[in-house]
Amino acid sequence: MKLKWVIKEKTAKKVARLLNCYGNLSSEITVNNILRRPGGHYIGLEQNRVVGYLAQKPNNFYSTKIYHLCVKPEYRGQGIAKYLVKMLVNKLGRKRPLFFATIDESNLVSQKVFRSLGFRVLTCFINPQTGNKLLVYFFNYQKNA
Ligand SMILES: CC(C)(COP(=O)(O)OP(=O)(O)OC[C@H]1O[C@@H](n2cnc3c(N)ncnc32)[C@H](O)[C@@H]1OP(=O)(O)O)[C@@H](O)C(=O)NCCC(=O)NCCS
Repeated sequence: MKLKWVIKEKTAKKVARLLNCYGNLSSEITVNNILRRPGGHYIGLEQNRVVGYLAQKPNNFYSTKIYHLCVKPEYRGQGIAKYLVKMLVNKLGRKRPLFFATIDESNLVSQKVFRSLGFRVLTCFINPQTGNKLLVYFFNYQKNA
């Protein structure tokens, strides 16, 4: 699978469609939301199809937030989500060693993805906007590399 950062509008459109259809997002994402952050996203491509997507942004000089992980339904269960997270961690870990991801308590599959890569629950909180319980997953590249 080829992986690349989102840069072209055409690809950003595919990513927006994927996230809006299958990403469990609380509000709709636009192509501009995606393009505004060149280099801030990570995607999985297979034969020019966007099959999975992952976004990241720096919290500060030492940590990165991972969000918007999503894999097209027909490609799930093949290790694509794990692969995307692993690639991202390996790419950024030396520069910014700590990673965070917030996951809804009910999203067991997503939790399995992160747990299987060594992420652990740091804390939890109730999302003030939805009332849902969110778990904060954490990974230290320097202790796991
Ligand atoms: C969560 C999601 C990204 C996982 O994508 P995926 O490519 O199917 O995940 P992987 O194939 O890498 O699987 C990772 C682990 O989850 C397990 N898994 C995958 N699908 C599963 C399912 N339906 N039921 C139980 N376990 C499952 C795999 O067996 C694997 O575990 P292992 O390492 O112990 O073998 C995908 O289901 C998705 O896009 N969901 C909707 C959006 C979403 O909820 N995103 C997360 C927001 S935090």
